[in-house]
Amino acid sequence: MFDSSTFIKDSITQLKDKIKGKAVMGVSGGVDSTTAAMIVNKSIGDNLYCILVDTGYLRKDEVENNIAMFKKIGLNVVAVDARERFYKKLQNVIEPEEKRKIIGELFIRVFEEIAVEKKAKYFVQGTIAPDWIESGGGLRDTIKSHHNVGGLPKDINFEIVEPLRDIYKDEVREVGKKLGLPKEIHQKQPFPGPGLAVRIVGEATRERAEIVREACYIVETEIDQAVKVGKIEKPWQYFAVLLPVKAVGVHGDVRAYKNIIVVRSVSSIDGMSAAYSKLPDHLLESISVHITNKLKDHIARVVYDVTNKPPGTIEYE
Ligand code: XMP
Repeated sequence: MFDSSTFIKDSITQLKDKIKGKAVMGVSGGVDSTTAAMIVNKSIGDNLYCILVDTGYLRKDEVENNIAMFKKIGLNVVAVDARERFYKKLQNVIEPEEKRKIIGELFIRVFEEIAVEKKAKYFVQGTIAPDWIESGGGLRDTIKSHHNVGGLPKDINFEIVEPLRDIYKDEVREVGKKLGLPKEIHQKQPFPGPGLAVRIVGEATRERAEIVREACYIVETEIDQAVKVGKIEKPWQYFAVLLPVKAVGVHGDVRAYKNIIVVRSVSSIDGMSAAYSKLPDHLLESISVHITNKLKDHIARVVYDVTNKPPGTIEYE
């Protein structure tokens, strides 16, 4: 039986022993990286430099909201605007694994620059068990290279520290809660390291990132509202995906030939398997109307994904 108090106590002892000097860490505002940052912060204090990289593939208002939250919980954090670097590196890149590797590598380069500036020797990651299992850890097949595992370049110059490596998402949430993380963080839905880039099938341009960012925001706000008023239980994850194919539609009485948005919502315990959410019709309709109104210059059609995992995965790439 997992005991979060023992886990925290043992981790802090081990980390104090292991980290001799300064460390850098990428934080996204998700439960994994925030929990890992808090454990390391309890071990080495402000010698941990948390870095929030704006890749251009974060959710709406995420940078501002996260920085405020990190400051509130006492982390030493800086934001780096790397949007142009990411958009440029991903130009003409379509293959999902190539995308993931490029993003993983660029993340490390950005951290490396800061590590050199701060003279840090350690690099902390919020990797959890399913990340390395799905990235082909042990005897398993590679399903996706999670950006914090398979995407790491070979020539990195610092020592990697992964305090949550052996535990699962529900256990991470327990640890986060025990450490005093606010509910909106320890119960926050997961967000993949490569961000919205893996929710844009095909080339992840700035323009397409803006479209999926707005669509994800609509899906999240509609579902959050339905949860708040008790119409549905909170799904494990819920978001939008932009497909690179077009369909014909009609806006007013004018023909439209625009892209398709997929709405994805699933329930799960640990992300290893998932069932699509049986959302009520009126909620799906409201999401669809909201998306086609707000994004009428880009989107002609909204579809709902009814695939479980397996055989699907939760994200699209
Ligand atoms: P899939 O799409 O593999 O996702 O069914 C399982 C869970 O993992 C999240 N995910 C990631 N998390 N780095 C992460 O930290 C990644 O590269 C990554 N890719 C997927 C996904 O959102 C879901 O919760």
